[in-house]
Amino acid sequence: MSEEKPVILTCAQPTGVLTIGNYLGAIKNWATMLDDYNCYFGVVDLHAITVKYTPAELRKNTLSCVAQYIACGLDPERSNLFIQSHVVGHTELAWLLSCITPIGDLQRMTQFKEKAAKLGFKVAEGEGSNELKFAHQGARAGASLNSGLLMYPVLMAADILLYNADAVPVGNDQRQHLELCRDLAQRFNSTYSETFKIPEPFIPKSGARIMSLQDPERKMSKSDDNQNSTLYILDKPDVLRKKLMSAVTDSGGEIKAAEDKPGVSNLLQIHSAISGSSTAELEASFVGKGYGDLKKEVADVVIAALEPVQARYAELIQDKKYLESVLKAGAGEAQKRAYKVLGKVYRKAGLVERPR
Ligand code: TRP
Repeated sequence: MSEEKPVILTCAQPTGVLTIGNYLGAIKNWATMLDDYNCYFGVVDLHAITVKYTPAELRKNTLSCVAQYIACGLDPERSNLFIQSHVVGHTELAWLLSCITPIGDLQRMTQFKEKAAKLGFKVAEGEGSNELKFAHQGARAGASLNSGLLMYPVLMAADILLYNADAVPVGNDQRQHLELCRDLAQRFNSTYSETFKIPEPFIPKSGARIMSLQDPERKMSKSDDNQNSTLYILDKPDVLRKKLMSAVTDSGGEIKAAEDKPGVSNLLQIHSAISGSSTAELEASFVGKGYGDLKKEVADVVIAALEPVQARYAELIQDKKYLESVLKAGAGEAQKRAYKVLGKVYRKAGLVERPR
């Protein structure tokens, strides 16, 4: 793999099953990304342990996540697919970065505040300082606010900077974290000397934006409380069909993509992303038909599209040897680059080089 290509890094937490939104939104881009970039895909297990979890499940989910990505078409021969904890340097770099990260910056992170609020911790303005204090009253019994949760964005910055990535594909919910990463890279560069590239957000050229089936104004999400909102790539055909048949549609019976028809638009969008037919072509083919016909056809299309993905997944998840070989190669490549960057960072930060 040529080192001259710009580096793209993307990471996913090993939580749950990918949605058809992940599949249709990301997958189409991977193929083109692989042509133009040197790609690193990390499964970030060390991020997953910032919230309560079960060890056996984490292990299972991490491997499942790897298998899902491959089943969805991420080609491990052409990209570096690795597990975060397999590569030395992520936590090391996070420590160095934490030493130039104001606590206040971390306490102001929207996701931190949301996760803290879920545990019952409320933010209060600190007196005379711009750091925020967390009121412990109201916290759930036995809940504690772990520093790992606060450090989460620093570890994420380390993931990115450890590969000196040029670009990072991030959704809106991760933009603030990427901003912090850019700040930290700049701060490191100006405190020591030019070391890191400043990573840019990567905006994919195309990629469908799939919405919730139950609330089509919101994006389809892995973690929706209403399971009927989300089509998972590993859902059985009858489950996919049931969810699609109960998708929310709009008033009026016409099958047309329009702003005041978010439900129908979303179904057409799913169809179009899979079948490749344009919305206009689909509208034409549904003239005189009803919402039930649309849902039925979308279900057929989705089920057919996921069938090979599910078959591939079933094979992969049985084939531990193959998964291990992919992960070994991926971590090997990632480690090479990571050691280079980490060595440079240590030197710039004034650490004595390890005797050879
Ligand atoms: N925080 C990201 C998410 O929840 C996952 C993540 C961790 C990540 N490290 C990253 C994403 C580095 C991009 C780059 O989606």
